Amino acid sequence: MKISFSESAMKEFQDILTRYPNKRAAMLPTLHLVQREFGWISREAMEYVGELLEVPFSEVYDTATFYTMFKLKPMGKYHLQVCHTLSCALRGAGHLCDHIREKLHIDNGEVTEDGKFSFVKVECLGSCGTAPVVQINDDYYEGLDTQKLDEVLDKLE
Ligand code: FES
Repeated sequence: MKISFSESAMKEFQDILTRYPNKRAAMLPTLHLVQREFGWISREAMEYVGELLEVPFSEVYDTATFYTMFKLKPMGKYHLQVCHTLSCALRGAGHLCDHIREKLHIDNGEVTEDGKFSFVKVECLGSCGTAPVVQINDDYYEGLDTQKLDEVLDKLE
């Protein structure tokens, strides 16, 4: 089925276009908008973005698959991105990943049965000084240990 933006998302898209020198340059904010509108970025959504921005599908695909912040399949209501790059790895990211696997019964890239949580390991989130870092949806949780992570997750449940 062909997808399209809601009226309000289309208005937002038109507004995005006014802030960039050409349509191609608006690729990242448009993909963010798609993710907010549909929850994830499907192949159909990539084709739609290609039409809107008048760029080949391959270009949209390359961009959407390059950045880990874009979800290429439906994820949980709360999407946990655990940084496992050097600073976070040295400060216990592995323990956080093990803890998430045990507590939520999901592995990297999976979603809980109730659709509430999903978990992926990602590269540096750009907050190495407060490692280890977990991003949940748009929020960063820093300097975590398993106890602090439990407190965060319990508040979300
Ligand atoms: S290494 Fe984890 S935020 Fe940079």
